[in-house]
Amino acid sequence: RARAASVRGIAEELARMRGPLLPILHAVVAAHGYVHDDDIPVIAEVLNLSRADVLGVVSFYHDFRRTPPAAHRVALCRAEACQARGADATYAAATDRWAGSTEIELGEVFCLGNCALGPAGTLDGALHARLTPERLDTLTAEWDR
Ligand code: FES
Repeated sequence: RARAASVRGIAEELARMRGPLLPILHAVVAAHGYVHDDDIPVIAEVLNLSRADVLGVVSFYHDFRRTPPAAHRVALCRAEACQARGADATYAAATDRWAGSTEIELGEVFCLGNCALGPAGTLDGALHARLTPERLDTLTAEWDR
């Protein structure tokens, strides 16, 4: 498969580095969005490691996601200043709407440096302020279609 060939190419390219496993995993995530189960034996073979060794490292670092990224990502600030401005209600509304969604991934962050304009959050990486449930609906209205 094309993916396997690409992952093998990445692994072979970086295999000569000192401590090549982490750079290879980062490169695989950068190229393919996540580390697929099938990538693990390929990387293990190139580096002459056991599958368990590679899997152990993949599992240890949260940076290496194991599933395809969602189409959209919402991260809401849950830190104190935003909570004081109503972040809990926004987060609860977002959870109601997107819990279990494979299209939209909901996450938490703890301060985005935008405290005075909270509740703060990012939508597909872009910073937004004053995120009430209604504003969140408006800003993401097109995503659900
Ligand atoms: Fe939310 Fe700082 S506490 S941005």
